[in-house]
Amino acid sequence: MSTASCDSAITYIDGDKGILRYRGYPIEQLADHSTYLETCYLLLNGELPNRAELTEFRGIIQEHTMLHEALRGFYKGFRHDAHPMAIMVGVVGALSAFYPDASDVHNPRVQEIAAHRLIAKMPTIAAWSYKYANGQPFIYPRNDLSYTENFLHMMFAVPTKDSRPDPLHVKALDLILILHADHEQNASTSTVRLTGSSEANPFAATSAGIASLWGPAHGGANEAVIRMLEEITESGNLKKYVDKAKDKNDRFRLMGFGHRIYKNFDPRAKIIRKMCHDLLQSLGDESTPLFDTALELEKIALEDEYFVERKLYPNVDYYSGIILRRLGIPLDMFTVIFALARTVGWISHWKEMMSDPTARIGRPRQLYTGSKERDYIPIEKR
Ligand code: SDX
Repeated sequence: MSTASCDSAITYIDGDKGILRYRGYPIEQLADHSTYLETCYLLLNGELPNRAELTEFRGIIQEHTMLHEALRGFYKGFRHDAHPMAIMVGVVGALSAFYPDASDVHNPRVQEIAAHRLIAKMPTIAAWSYKYANGQPFIYPRNDLSYTENFLHMMFAVPTKDSRPDPLHVKALDLILILHADHEQNASTSTVRLTGSSEANPFAATSAGIASLWGPAHGGANEAVIRMLEEITESGNLKKYVDKAKDKNDRFRLMGFGHRIYKNFDPRAKIIRKMCHDLLQSLGDESTPLFDTALELEKIALEDEYFVERKLYPNVDYYSGIILRRLGIPLDMFTVIFALARTVGWISHWKEMMSDPTARIGRPRQLYTGSKERDYIPIEKR
C-alpha cells in the first residue's frame, strides 16, 4: 500500500487535501466545463482537444460503436438472469477473438485503435447486456446522438416507438461518467496494468479490470449502497446498522463510506453530493423512504465519532448510487456504468505502460510466512 507500482502522468490524487486532477486539470473544472467524450480525449492524449480535434475524435469513436454481428449470439450463451457484469467480463474478453491483431501490443497504431474500439463499444456492450437480461431486442447505436445520449438510447429505447433520453438524465449521467473516468492505481486499473504487462491482448486486460471492479469493496459499492439502504429502510432501525458498522467483530461496513486514499471528503463525492441533493429535492413530495434514509445516514456518519476519528466520509459511490437510482437505472447496471466510465482510464494506463520502452512484466514480491524446509512423509506414517 506504500510502494509505487509504476510512474504515471495521467491522474494526480492528494488524499489528505482531497485533490483529484486528470492530466493536471482539477476534477471540479472538468465537471463544470467538459463532457465525458472530451475527457476521454484528454486522458488518452494528455491535452484538451481543440474544436477540430474533438470533432475528428467524435467521428472516429462513432465509426467503432457497432459490434460484430456474431457477438449477438455470444449473449445468448448466458442465463437470462445473468448479472450484467458477468456478461461484460465475457463479452469484452471475447473481443480478443475478433481483433487478433490487437496482440501486436507495442505497435502505436494498434494501441490507438484498441483504445478507440473499447471507448466506442463499451456503451453498446453495456446496453445490450441490459437488453438481453430483460428479454428486449438490442437497439443499435445512432450517430446523430452524443456519446452518453446514445448509451441511454440503447438502454431504454424500444423498436415500437420513437423516444429520446431526457436531457437532464443525459447531463447527470455524463457528469457521473466524467467523475469515474480515472483514479490512478485503484484495484481495477492496477489489474489492467499487471495483466497488460505480460503483453496480453488489451481486450483481455480490460476484461480482467472489469472483473476486479465488480467487487463490492471497489466498483460494486454503488450497487451495494442501494441494497444496504433498502435493508436499513426495511428494518426501520438505522442505529442498528451504524452500530454493526462500528463493531470490529462484525464484517458489515457502511457501503459508500471510507476510502483507501481520501482521508478527507472524496472530491468527486463533493461534486455529485450537490446534484444528488438537488435531484432529491426535485422529488419534493415524491421523496421516498430510501432517499430519506440516505440523507439521515449521511448526517449521522458525518457526526459520529467512529467515522470522524477514522476519517470515513461518504465516497463517490454513496451519491452515484442514489443518483443512478433516481435516473431509473436498474440496480444491477450500476457497476456496469462504472465500468463503462472507467474504460478510458484503464486503456489510457495500458497505453501509457505499453508505450514505455522500459516497461517490464509485473512481478510483485511477497513476505514468505510458511513452513521452513522439511522432509516428505510417506502416507503410511501420516
Ligand atoms: C472505490 O482505490 C480507488 O481509488 C477506488 C475508487 C476508484 O475510483 O477506483 O475510488 C472507487 O472503490 C471507492 C470505495 C468504494 N467502497 C466502498 O464504499 C465499500 C465500503 N468501504 C470500505 O470497504 C473501505 O472503506 C474501503 C475498502 C473503501 C477502504 O478500506 P481500507 O483502506 O481498509 O479502510 P481504512 O484502512 O481507511 O479503514 C480505517 C478504519 C478501519 O477500522 P480500524 O481497524 O481502524 O478500527 O475504518 C474502518 C476500518 O475497519 N472502515 C470502516 C469502513 N471503511 C473503513 N468501518 C465501517 N464502514 C466502512 N465503510
